[in-house]
Amino acid sequence: MEEAQRLAKLPTYVFALLDKLKAEERAKGKELIDLTIGSPSHLPPPEVVDTFVDALKVQANHRYFSFEGDPAFRSAVVEWCRRQYGLQLENHEVMELIGSKEGIVHFIFAYLNPGDTVLVPTPCYPAHYRGPILAGGVPYELPTVESNGYIPDLDMIDDSIADKAKMLIISYPTNPTAATATREFFEKAVRFAKKHNLILLHDFAYGELYFEGRKPISCLSIPGAKDVTIEFHSLSKTFGMAGWRLGFAVGNAGLIESLRKMKTNLDYGPFNATVKAGTAALKMHNGYLDNMRATYQKKRDIIVEGLSELGWKLKKPLATFYLWVPVPSGFNSMSFTEHLIHKAEVAVSPGIGFGDLGEGYVRFALVDTDERIRQAVERMKKAGIRYGG
Ligand SMILES: Cc1ncc(COP(=O)(O)O)c(C=O)c1O
Repeated sequence: MEEAQRLAKLPTYVFALLDKLKAEERAKGKELIDLTIGSPSHLPPPEVVDTFVDALKVQANHRYFSFEGDPAFRSAVVEWCRRQYGLQLENHEVMELIGSKEGIVHFIFAYLNPGDTVLVPTPCYPAHYRGPILAGGVPYELPTVESNGYIPDLDMIDDSIADKAKMLIISYPTNPTAATATREFFEKAVRFAKKHNLILLHDFAYGELYFEGRKPISCLSIPGAKDVTIEFHSLSKTFGMAGWRLGFAVGNAGLIESLRKMKTNLDYGPFNATVKAGTAALKMHNGYLDNMRATYQKKRDIIVEGLSELGWKLKKPLATFYLWVPVPSGFNSMSFTEHLIHKAEVAVSPGIGFGDLGEGYVRFALVDTDERIRQAVERMKKAGIRYGG
């Protein structure tokens, strides 16, 4: 049977090769320290788990839910976005999602016609590039590199490209480079989207995972942003709930409505018990988030300081739980990944999996215990892996 062209058009999924490599090593009895996937290591708050267990006992939660979603969840989102980011939202400007990835890709499907251009900074989270391809669109890469702080230069985009594009996708703090953006950048992105009649999609999955008090801003906090912006939030990283599949979109009512229309034809939203638990998470007023940030900040410090002993000179990222690390000379991102797995039994993600501009880098996801992260550095040291002379 021949697959649809939309699948055939996708570039090779490097992470599937990586999975194979890891499985082969494990089959040989190797015990890998796996820092490949951005799946949080912190647990959800106990109140959230308790709320879920209680919700399981309520018959209504086992039924199909309304396409509108749970009004209590939407109110909790409105209040959370006010408290955390100073946003003024109404309940109809909120849409619950089965994780933000689902929402992002379905939103792209809701707006792209075949051949439509989408502006995407790269390297990027794969769904930002692959979502447009799946929807029949054409991603137009906005190159980001270390010297520009992994922020695209919107002034460099030719008017003829920007005018024909339909959407600009941004995501700060960003995966995989851990870059953060200033208010000025968001202001510029909003102006740019308005000038060229673009939808501005902001993926804010790492909005709460920041360090040293450098709180990221919501794109919707820019005055006038709501005219053109939809922003995707996730409970996965914030509350350690990646496997639960819960996120939400907020922003322009028309954009939210189209996403709802799309999803009405595809799914029934997240499991009700999950939504109740998520509502409890958003209502929490304790130090959970501060603790979560302190936990990852410590891991960040361990790895950056450890790698500096091995010759790397890395800045400490101000957000996310990723570290974007250049590969030593003589390697490319895939060969260094293989070398790390074979020689040090440490698994990381090859930069090429995040786009061509990711070549020359690997991404460490700091999602294991402090002890194991220390061990990863030790293993590299023992294997003689160094950067530079
Ligand atoms: C930038 C970015 N957006 C979205 C997601 C997906 O999050 P969710 O679990 O809400 O689908 C990830 C997961 O790694 C991510 O890195």
